Amino acid sequence: MNTTASTTVEMRLHAIRYAAQDTHLYEFRRLDGAPLPGVEPGAHIDLHLPNGMMRQYSLCTADGDPRAYVVGVKRDRASRGGSRYIHEYLQVGEILQVGGPRNNFPLKDDAGHSVLIAGGIGVTPIWCMAQRLLKLGRSFELHYACRTRKEAAFLEELAALPQAKLHFDDEAGGFLDLAPVVAQAPAGAHFYCCGPLPMLAGYEAATKALPPGQVHVEYFSAKEEAATGGGYVVELRRSGREFPIPEGRTILQVLRDAGVDVPYSCEEGVCGACETQVVSGEVDHRDNILTEKERLESKTIMVCCSGSKSPRLVLDL
Ligand code: FES
Repeated sequence: MNTTASTTVEMRLHAIRYAAQDTHLYEFRRLDGAPLPGVEPGAHIDLHLPNGMMRQYSLCTADGDPRAYVVGVKRDRASRGGSRYIHEYLQVGEILQVGGPRNNFPLKDDAGHSVLIAGGIGVTPIWCMAQRLLKLGRSFELHYACRTRKEAAFLEELAALPQAKLHFDDEAGGFLDLAPVVAQAPAGAHFYCCGPLPMLAGYEAATKALPPGQVHVEYFSAKEEAATGGGYVVELRRSGREFPIPEGRTILQVLRDAGVDVPYSCEEGVCGACETQVVSGEVDHRDNILTEKERLESKTIMVCCSGSKSPRLVLDL
């Protein structure tokens, strides 16, 4: 995967710590040790790996050492190379370009009650949110599902937390059922879920009847295919340039090939780096970031994966 021209800063891998089987915590600091921009729970950073790949990882804490960003990385057996590279080759002392932080999964930390749901390594932003809610003394509950106990990161901390309920598939004989979790929550609660696609599908089904503003979700990877049907023209308002988008190509690919400077990162519609203002046209949204309301408003588009339903799409570029 290519990297981006958007803002990055050089950071040193300061420490690697064991968190669980196949999961390590990676701590990054600026080379001069200066404090980093503050972050809110749910934020992620982009790691530009020396092998040319770029991956996003959620921060484990928003309230820890202001000089450090810590992310949890699970070695994914189906990895396209990102987590495998990090686990096998990254060493303490190595210097990386780090982008962000960005937050597509913000916590409403003044809600009357919050229901935090995590699956596997999706616990990273959820644990970050729990720490903030604990700090503020807010009411919340946390449900953490993992295949096995030995794969559960932050197990010691979560096991000691009265608000946390742990679920291990091998011990329970199946997956965590989210329907009762949602049904039993107090009215007006805000829900947050980060985990693998099957868990997110269950979460979306369980929360379908709730007001969208109370339901928050973070995807690790694309839920939908990118729009590559082509057959429309993208016009850039500022330069007046026009680009026919052919079948098999995304808007980002066409613009990038033409030398148009558009920030991007994941190219899967999950990070938000390529979000671009829409002037006119009907967007075919395929990202995992915009809410239903935002999709309807169509003020912005993720050009890495979304396309156009109208023959012409005008962007504020
Ligand atoms: Fe990540 Fe488009 S590059 S959403």
